[in-house]
Amino acid sequence: MDGLVDRQGRVARDLRVSLTDRCNLRCAYCMPAEGLPWLPNDEVLSDAEVNRLIRIGVESLGITKLRFTGGEPLLRPGLEGIVQAAKQLRTPTGEVPETALTTNGLGLDKRLAGLVAAGLDRVNVSLDSLDRQRYATLTRRDRLPDVLRSLEAADAAGLHPVKVNAVVMRDSNEDDIVPLALHCLSRGYELRFIEQMPLGPQGEWDRDAMVTQTEILDRLRTRLELTPIGDGRGSAPAELWQVAADRTQPGGRIGVIASVTSPFCAACDRTRLTSDGQIRSCLFSRRETDLRGLLRGGASDSGIAEAWQATQWAKPPAHGIDEDGFVQPARTMSAIGG
Ligand code: 5AD
Ligand code: SF4
Repeated sequence: MDGLVDRQGRVARDLRVSLTDRCNLRCAYCMPAEGLPWLPNDEVLSDAEVNRLIRIGVESLGITKLRFTGGEPLLRPGLEGIVQAAKQLRTPTGEVPETALTTNGLGLDKRLAGLVAAGLDRVNVSLDSLDRQRYATLTRRDRLPDVLRSLEAADAAGLHPVKVNAVVMRDSNEDDIVPLALHCLSRGYELRFIEQMPLGPQGEWDRDAMVTQTEILDRLRTRLELTPIGDGRGSAPAELWQVAADRTQPGGRIGVIASVTSPFCAACDRTRLTSDGQIRSCLFSRRETDLRGLLRGGASDSGIAEAWQATQWAKPPAHGIDEDGFVQPARTMSAIGG
């Protein structure tokens, strides 16, 4: 078996597993205020089904990195068990897969002991504003103190480096760019700003209103001295800058994920599993492959692995967000997995 290779010669080693499409926030760039029609329970993979697909990915298809996402993955009661099962697996060369969690941080502090014991390696926590009112407006829930508490707890639990994701939206949280940077630098968190992508409510994304990487860097440079790190970024989506220390704050690294203005598709090494058991080779694919149907229809491990390989083979060369004729995928980020 040759792993998850596509026509362009890219090899997928990073599997994003969405564990639920539900969420307890309603971030404006992701969901409408009223939420979405959630998937019925019987369409969502069971823990045993998720574990089986992860096992096939790691043992047969060359997956070395697992990232658990949602919706909000902490809403999945079996999360700790799924992480623990993943950490028992070995790749064909004997490696233990790396595990990470992308979360909004609500309730993370209370789950950390169990997650660390299960073998979780890292967390990425979404935080788009340090201003309580703006945070509440943006996420439509007044939960900023909970998130800040979870970040401190993750750091204290040794999940270094704690990573923070911030999506920047025009006329919303642009004024948070510098305060977020100073907050994260002072605590040793690695902050990544993310260009807003057309993955939220249909028809709401506006290319002309999007805050670009260039603007984010310009804002940061009003207060901080930034030097680019490295020339190529490999498959990592974030381009990184070293921030110089000064009298009032320590140095550190800050990233910008410029998925729209500087796409990293040519180096993308990801494959995705939705909570209802569909494989997508790209966030923006319009094609999904129904592994749940194969699982529940009694397919063998090798039958499932072959269907996954066929999907990945057809991975689109690039998402084309910034091109004429781009069509937003029917599912939003919360249903696909971030
Ligand atoms: N554009 C960019 N990033 C997004 N996220 C969610 N929706 C979007 C979007 N439309 C990010 C969140 C979170 C991760 C799961 O994906 O910030 O960190
Ligand atoms: Fe929930 Fe994440 Fe979507 Fe915000 S971005 S509503 S935290 S799934």
